[in-house]
Amino acid sequence: MAKESYYIVALPGDGIGTEVLSCALRVLRVVGELFQVEFKVEEIPCGGHYYAEHETEWPEGSFPKCEAADAILLGAVGHEVDGKTVFTKPGKPYPEPQLAGFAQVIGNRKKLDLYANVRPVKLYPGVKHKIHGKLTQVWEPGKVDYVVIRENTEDAYTGELEVIEDGRVTPIRITRRATERVVRYAFNLARRRNKQKKVTCVDKSNIIGAHRFFRDVFREVGEREFGDITLDYAYVDAFCQWQIRSPEWFDVVVGPNLVGDIISDNGATTAGGLGLAVGGNIGDDHAMFEPIHGSAPKHAGKDKANPLAAILAMQMMLDWLAARHRDDRLARAAERVEAAVAAVLQKGKTLTYDLIGEEKAARCSEVGAAVEQQLRMIV
Ligand code: IPM
Ligand code: MN
Repeated sequence: MAKESYYIVALPGDGIGTEVLSCALRVLRVVGELFQVEFKVEEIPCGGHYYAEHETEWPEGSFPKCEAADAILLGAVGHEVDGKTVFTKPGKPYPEPQLAGFAQVIGNRKKLDLYANVRPVKLYPGVKHKIHGKLTQVWEPGKVDYVVIRENTEDAYTGELEVIEDGRVTPIRITRRATERVVRYAFNLARRRNKQKKVTCVDKSNIIGAHRFFRDVFREVGEREFGDITLDYAYVDAFCQWQIRSPEWFDVVVGPNLVGDIISDNGATTAGGLGLAVGGNIGDDHAMFEPIHGSAPKHAGKDKANPLAAILAMQMMLDWLAARHRDDRLARAAERVEAAVAAVLQKGKTLTYDLIGEEKAARCSEVGAAVEQQLRMIV
């Protein structure tokens, strides 16, 4: 059922995360106005800069707010002091220091059981990609349109660390439960997309035993429950070159956590770069949406980062909320926000340095304003 009001927790985090998220929230406010939906947005300061000041990654009571939210929007985490990344102190919350901002990214993914990280690799018309420092068009729109589904709770992301005499050991954990639910998510998505009806399992199962188990479970579930879907397999090293050379081969791709982390960034190369790449962390009861880029400390505070990934993350949130609550207003809003972003890209005038070069570059906030204007025009 459509809700009276949607409670959105916004976690701006660090660096450019705060700048791009403020553009996404600006567009969200306009969506509320144009489509007559109330969003109650609560911004929570967090991440590495917060840790550097307060020795905790966010104010007390923040996690319960994330739990209570209808959806979470995340900017980016990672902060530097004197050129060095801020890590949390040993013993809290993991056995070794971890990136400050862990609580928001990895903590939320695990504690809210956001088991599928959905990362579309889609090239919009008009978008250029940076090769050899120059902007050019190598890949064709329509030929880059697949979705990476990254398992989001285990693999090498366990936080476990064993001290051995000569070093450290971090285990790779693959369980049947986590694998079954994420591959099912991927198969169901291939059905819903109704394009090639194909799912590619990407792993390093030729050498990592735990990945062999991932592949076995993928095959089992696929053959047993999804007779209408083609099962396809690739080792991650070879996959990295195919996604550059023949991205049109892929429809839905699924893999263990670390594999998914790497291939989603690699795929972004063919779709205009990290400034446009988006991730939805999806569970059965909660979801968190984010641009997949980092906090880029060297660009922070300059109003120059590309806000389109954050805006598209917000768009993905609208789409997820629309389906979850059967809210037609949000479904229309999601479709129109995507159309507004596509139009700004196609016009090719008001874009940040990564898509148009330093000389012609618009500010981050100007791109946000251009999307707003476009959205008002087409609604
Ligand atoms: C991502 C990021 C995170 C990850 C970092 C910030 C822990 O790279 O969302 O892809 O590795 O998952
Ligand atoms: Mn990553």
